Parts: sequence; C-alpha cells; structure tokens
Amino acid sequence: MRLLLIPLLALLTLAATAPRAEGLDGLERLIAAWLESPHGNYNSPSFTYWNEQGAVPESCAMCHSETGFMDFLGVGDHTAGVVDHPGVINSPIGCASCHTAEAHALDAVTFPSGAHVEGLGASATCMVCHQGRQSSDQVEERVADRDEDAVSDELAFVNIHYAASAATMLGAEARPGYQYDGRRYAGRFMHVPGADTCVACHEAHSTAVETDGCLACHRGVDDLRDIRTQHQDFAGTGDRSGGIHSEIMALHAQLLDAIRRYASEISDAPIAYAQSFPYFFADPTGTGDLPPDLATRDNRYQNWTPRLLKAAYNYQVVAKDPGGYVHNPRYMLQLLYDSIESLSEVVELDMSRLSRP
Ligand code: HEC
Ligand code: HEC
Ligand code: HEC
Ligand code: HEC
Ligand code: HEC
Repeated sequence: MRLLLIPLLALLTLAATAPRAEGLDGLERLIAAWLESPHGNYNSPSFTYWNEQGAVPESCAMCHSETGFMDFLGVGDHTAGVVDHPGVINSPIGCASCHTAEAHALDAVTFPSGAHVEGLGASATCMVCHQGRQSSDQVEERVADRDEDAVSDELAFVNIHYAASAATMLGAEARPGYQYDGRRYAGRFMHVPGADTCVACHEAHSTAVETDGCLACHRGVDDLRDIRTQHQDFAGTGDRSGGIHSEIMALHAQLLDAIRRYASEISDAPIAYAQSFPYFFADPTGTGDLPPDLATRDNRYQNWTPRLLKAAYNYQVVAKDPGGYVHNPRYMLQLLYDSIESLSEVVELDMSRLSRP
C-alpha cells in the first residue's frame, strides 16, 4: 500500500505545482525585464526631477508618475481625461500604470494638436505618454500674423518635449512637426502588418525591439540603422549606400547649417544648438561650437523670427525622436526638406540636389 501511495502522491503534487511554477517563472521574467527597462528605472530624471519639490506638478504628472497616469485614466474616484492632483515622486511606470481596467479599456488618445485618434488597442497607453507636448498648431498660434522675418522678443523657442514617437508614427494625423502651408505630409506609417504598432515592435515590459524579425525581411544588413527601402538621394550627397537613417541625419545636419546661416544673416545674431534646455543659444563665437558654460538659460537664444522658430522647432522634433527613421521616415524627411526650403527663400541655399519624398 505505502509503496504505491508515495509515487501517486508525488505525481499529484507535481501536477498541482507545475502550471503554477511555470506561471510564476513567466511573471518573474516579465518583472525582471521591467526592472531593467527605462520605465522601471527609479533613478531616472524622469521620475526624480521633482524630488526637491516633493511632488510632480499636475502638468507633468500624467507621464512622469504612475499615480499621475492613473489620475489621467480615471482610476478610482478620479475623473478620466484630466490630471487634477500632483503626482507622487519616485513613482516610475509600473504594472498598475498599464494593467488597470481603465488602462486595458483605453483605445483612443487626444494629441497636443487636438487630433483624436481611435482604434489604438494595446498601444493606446504608450501613445498617451509618447505624444509630446507641442504641435504644428501651437507653433502656428505663436507666430500667427507676424512678419516672417521680423525679430520679436515676444517669441521664444518651442520644445516638442521628448520621445514623442507616437506622434511621429502618426505623422499628419497628429501633426507633431510644424507643417508648412500648402504642403502634403505623410500620415501614419503603416509599414507592414505585424510591425505596425508600438507593442508589435517593442516588447511592452522591456520596451526592447526584437531585431531578428526585422532583419528577416530587411536582408543584407546587420544594423537596423542600415535599413533602406527608399532609394532616392534625399539629402543630395550623392551617397545612397547608407540606411534611411543616414539620409535623415544628413538632411538634419544641413538644416542646422541653414538655421545658423539665417540667424547670422537675417536675425543678425549667431545661434548654436546644444544638448541642454532650451537647446538654442546665442553664439558669440559664431562657430556653432558652443563652450559648455554658455549653454545656460541666461544665454538662451532671443532673436527669434517666425521663420526661424518654425525651422528650429522641426530641427528639435527630429532630434528628439532617434527612432524617427523607423516610426515615420517620410514624415521626418518632409519636415526637414520643407524647413530648409523655407529658409532658402531668404538666405542663399542650394536646394537643387535635395528631393522631397
Ligand atoms: C505627454 C507626456 C509628458 C508630459 C505631460 C511631460 N513629459 Fe517630460 N518626458 C516625457 C517622456 C516620454 C520623457 C522621456 C524621454 C526619454 O526617453 O528620455 C520625458 C522626459 C523629461 C525629462 C528628462 C529630459 C531628458 O533630457 O532626458 C524632463 C526633465 C522632463 N521630461 C520634464 C518635464 C516637465 C517639467 C513636465 C511638466 C511641465 C513634463 N516633463 C511633462 C513625457 C512627458
Ligand atoms: C507600459 C505599459 C506596461 C507596463 C508598465 C506593464 N505592462 Fe504588462 N503588458 C502590457 C501590454 C501592452 C501587454 C500586452 C502585450 C500584447 O498584447 O502584445 C502586457 C501583457 C502582460 C501580461 C500577459 C502576458 C504577456 O507576457 O503578454 C502580463 C502577465 C503582464 N503584462 C504583467 C505585467 C506586470 C507584472 C507588470 C509590472 C512588472 C507589467 N505587466 C507592466 C503593458 C504593460
Ligand atoms: C505613463 C507614461 C508612459 C507610458 C504609459 C509609456 N511610457 Fe514609455 N516612457 C515613459 C517615460 C517617462 C520614459 C523615460 C523613462 C526614463 O527616463 O527612464 C519612457 C521611456 C520609453 C522608452 C525608452 C526611451 C529611451 O530614451 O531609450 C521606450 C522605447 C518606451 N518608453 C516605449 C513605450 C511603449 C512601447 C509603451 C507602451 C507599451 C510605453 N512606452 C508606455 C513614459 C511612458
Ligand atoms: C516598426 C517597428 C516600430 C514601431 C511600430 C514603433 N517603434 Fe519605437 N522604435 C523602434 C526602433 C527599432 C527603435 C530604436 C531606433 C534606434 O535607436 O535606432 C525605436 C525607438 C523608440 C523610442 C526611443 C527613442 C529614444 O529616445 O531613444 C521610443 C520612446 C519608442 N520607440 C516608442 C515607440 C512608441 C510609443 C511606438 C508606438 C507609437 C513605437 N515606438 C512604434 C521600432 C518601432
Ligand atoms: C514582413 C516584412 C517586414 C518586417 C518584418 C519588417 N519590415 Fe521594415 N519594411 C518593410 C517594407 C515592405 C517597408 C517599406 C514600407 C513603406 O515604405 O511603406 C519597410 C520599411 C522600413 C523602414 C523604412 C526604410 C526606408 O527607406 O524608408 C525601416 C527603417 C524599417 N522598415 C525598419 C524595420 C524594423 C526596425 C523592423 C522590426 C521591428 C521591421 N522593419 C520589420 C518590411 C518589413
């Protein structure tokens, strides 16, 4: 009797624990992936920037604090669609941000331009926080009715904010870039079924992109940045050997040169770009190579004209979505081309070699 019972019991226990152990393994892996992800990085400035103030202000909390995001979604007794409480500091984007009933039900997002986009499914939460904070419409409001080339001290640089990949991906549907009058812009980059939404490309917990799947279609390259399916010479360099990323980067560099020419010749005050807020600074050296001690708020660029502001805004839109070449390459190229073309109306720039997709 006993001899038979022991293996039977062992078998029963195995049967009872096996699925549970597997579920927990899966959960452990998922939590480990999240802990290593930018969303789970407790030390990032994205979640510690307000520590001295003690709370994340309402205008920032939706994207920079889990409690702020839940407030926005209307979890508990909050009203959906508004953030009316400061967020908790040191509160990264955890499980409860994306896995409340409200988060699962979310399917539509309103962008800074006012565009309301529906049918977003599991990527809707991503699109709330990765939508940026400005759009074509806000830039237009600031410059409306002003002379294109008149310097005004009422103008200041407009920053799209950071990692606005959702707005980039939707292009003209969301209008994250300054869209020049009379021009047509690419809408959502549809790419291919299976790689056309945030969570189709980014694993939601690690946020990482599984590149093997990409390279199975895009053969002949090892690096995503070497992928290219559009073969025109957009930047007019004569070199088409690089990926679409290099084409965008070349045009981006040309836009900065054009901005600098314009600032010196029309605004009568040299400008330089640096990697710190508010990004565009007065450049007494005139070289574009700003000494770090001049990249300060006090030395921010102040000789803005409408034309310069639009071009600088678009320069930053491209700079702050390093994934722009995957999210919406045509939209990026169009913004860059049109910004350079606008500057070329008043400073001498050779547009003849550039092409617009
Ligand atoms: C619509 C969502 C959203 C709102 C609202 C928002 N941010 Fe952000 N912010 C982001 C995202 C996304 C990033 C992450 C960029 C990255 O990947 O590093 C970010 C990054 C930052 C950073 C880090 C910058 C860097 O260079 O890494 C600071 C500082 C910041 N935000 C300040 C603010 C402040 C201040 C406010 C409120 C006035 C605010 N944000 C409102 C989405 C938002
Ligand atoms: C930024 C949003 C986000 C965060 C943060 C997040 N999840 Fe998810 N999670 C998702 C999405 C989106 C899916 C569905 C993926 C899909 O449909 O492709 C998912 C799927 C899941 C699943 C189903 C199994 C699977 O692997 O798809 C589990 C379980 C899960 N999440 C648990 C967690 C836990 C636990 C945490 C916290 C450590 C967490 N999630 C944090 C967005 C998130
Ligand atoms: C509640 C706001 C919020 C939601 C929802 C959200 N993110 Fe983020 N995301 C952020 C912030 C803030 C950062 C910057 C984190 C940091 O600084 O460590 C970030 C960082 C990232 C990064 C890394 C960017 C970099 O600089 O390397 C990726 C990729 C990303 N998110 C993708 C997604 C995807 C995909 C989803 C949906 C499944 C999503 N995010 C949902 C706020 C959010
Ligand atoms: C076709 C696949 C694809 C789709 C769709 C996609 N991404 Fe990406 N994304 C990438 C790749 C690849 C990178 C990395 C690019 C690089 O650094 O070279 C990236 C980069 C990013 C970054 C990091 C930018 C940085 O600051 O370094 C964020 C944030 C991001 N994606 C969010 C999103 C969100 C949100 C969505 C949905 C609106 C989305 N992505 C849709 C492939 C995709
Ligand atoms: C099923 C095949 C397939 C898969 C998988 C695929 N792509 Fe693509 N990709 C395409 C096609 C087709 C195009 C052209 C789409 C268009 O121009 O509208 C393209 C275009 C692109 C472009 C723009 C190239 C250019 O010159 O404008 C980039 C960048 C890109 N894919 C990156 C990726 C990344 C990153 C992944 C993986 C997350 C991926 N692709 C997965 C087929 C695929």
